[in-house]
Amino acid sequence: MRLDKVLGHVGYGSRKEVQKMIKAKKVTVDGKCVAKSEVNVNPEVQEICVSGKPIDYKEFYYYLLHKPAGYVSATEDPRDETVIDLLAPMDRNKELFPVGRLDKDTEGLLVLTNNGKLAHDLLSPKKHVDKIYYAKVKGEMVPEDVEIFAQGMTLKDGTTYRPGKLEIISSGEYSEIYVTISEGKFHQVKKMVHYVGKEVIYLKRIQMGQLKLPETLELGEYRQLTNEELIELQKQV
Ligand code: URA
Repeated sequence: MRLDKVLGHVGYGSRKEVQKMIKAKKVTVDGKCVAKSEVNVNPEVQEICVSGKPIDYKEFYYYLLHKPAGYVSATEDPRDETVIDLLAPMDRNKELFPVGRLDKDTEGLLVLTNNGKLAHDLLSPKKHVDKIYYAKVKGEMVPEDVEIFAQGMTLKDGTTYRPGKLEIISSGEYSEIYVTISEGKFHQVKKMVHYVGKEVIYLKRIQMGQLKLPETLELGEYRQLTNEELIELQKQV
């Protein structure tokens, strides 16, 4: 692969920016300075450094973000900040996109990747990847709601939801619940709760397949998936 292409993929910027870096002799391949952008390299076996620092080349990148409220799950938006705006500039250049969508006001676990096939498979309704949400609800959640969730629902507009699992953590004027669903339809948890006459006032995704939101990851923080996490995620599809 061309050296400038490799550096662009890793996140060093546009071809022009990368070519400038190479011309400025900031790039070494196996310890030797390379001043030509079009030279062919194998990033899997050769050590490529920029300003003395080895690059982190991978064909596919996988990140886990603790999404805060206020950001839309998209790569671009004319009005709002997107989850991509939360990334460091190098990572912003990696052509990552979010796997599925959390509402602007929803927090929690969001996977970002440049692997279109994995993203597609994880979202496919055929694969039944469970997502677990924690929610605070206005209104009293009752055992009958658990039954209704377990049976699945058809809304007045014809939208259908497969059976979901509702666990009531606490109930009263305000309730706390966990909801497990295998689909990812628009506003699904909010609409399921609305169907039983209550209102979600706070929503957070805490798990997707076997992948859990780490307690150590603060709101707005992100990190690469570990190999074990990635293997678990790939097993889901
Ligand atoms: N269900 C919702 O209602 N909102 C989300 O963001 C995710 C699931």
